Amino acid sequence: MKLLEGKTALITGVANDYSIAWGIAKALYAHGAELAFTYQNERLKEKMHGLVKQFNPRLVTELDVTKDEDVARVGQEVLQTYGQVDIFLHSMAFVPKEDLHGEFAKISRSGFALANDISAYSLINLTNALLPAFEAAGGGSIIYLTYIGGEYAISTYGMAGVTKAALEISGKYLAQSLGERKIRVNGISAGPIKTLAARGIKNFSGLQQKAQDFMPLKGEMTPDDVAGTAVFLGSDLSKSITGEIIHVDNGFHCVRG
Ligand SMILES: NC(=O)c1ccc[n+]([C@@H]2O[C@H](COP(=O)([O-])OP(=O)(O)OC[C@H]3O[C@@H](n4cnc5c(N)ncnc54)[C@H](O)[C@@H]3O)[C@@H](O)[C@H]2O)c1
Repeated sequence: MKLLEGKTALITGVANDYSIAWGIAKALYAHGAELAFTYQNERLKEKMHGLVKQFNPRLVTELDVTKDEDVARVGQEVLQTYGQVDIFLHSMAFVPKEDLHGEFAKISRSGFALANDISAYSLINLTNALLPAFEAAGGGSIIYLTYIGGEYAISTYGMAGVTKAALEISGKYLAQSLGERKIRVNGISAGPIKTLAARGIKNFSGLQQKAQDFMPLKGEMTPDDVAGTAVFLGSDLSKSITGEIIHVDNGFHCVRG
């Protein structure tokens, strides 16, 4: 019997086959989960359908998390199509370029709000939309992606770090309020991985190299390195873990040079 046999997972955040969500989707599927996918906008539609057809998903649907109607529709579609959901992967983030690269004290009100809306509020909003599907499953596992820049100030991460702090504490409050319904909420704090979003960060290669120099476990990280922890968090093996954040970063979080 595979670890995730009989479980349905909603995967958000696949932009291409470099996405962390893509690595996680492959692993969840290999361990027996049935998958549903969202993509951000019409522009990605054809590419997404082509990418994910190897998983035979019954649902591949558009989701822009800034639109309440999209969020509500996705909750309904998941319930109608699968009758339940057991795993929800939140793997999305966005910060306007000018607010990511400029001086921190000059971050705009609108940039601060939009970045937190897309990168953190979406965890709360989507969880709420998926509650009927989680309840139909008798509980489940919510997994989100975060970064150590939400714990410490890391140069060039700036506003993105603020959204990660908001995301992490939102995850803990969700864990508290959903525990009675047997819905667990945990984060994976990943080390730097070359993806589309990462390329938006100024001098990402420098940040990645610096991290690799200090990491106790050596080598460049890939989405596949993060995926095993997502399988564990999605499975019943982690049934007593909630409100946790697991660093999957080759040990970078535990060293100071
Ligand atoms: N790459 C890294 O080094 C790293 C490290 C730690 C955490 N993370 C986190 O992992 C997650 C996935 O990022 P990634 O690195 O795989 O990059 P990615 O670019 O592949 O994925 C980011 C996703 O966010 C989605 N997105 C942005 N705005 C959206 C919106 N309005 N509505 C719906 N979706 C939207 C994009 O469509 C994309 O699929 C993010 O939360 C990121 O912060 C990344």
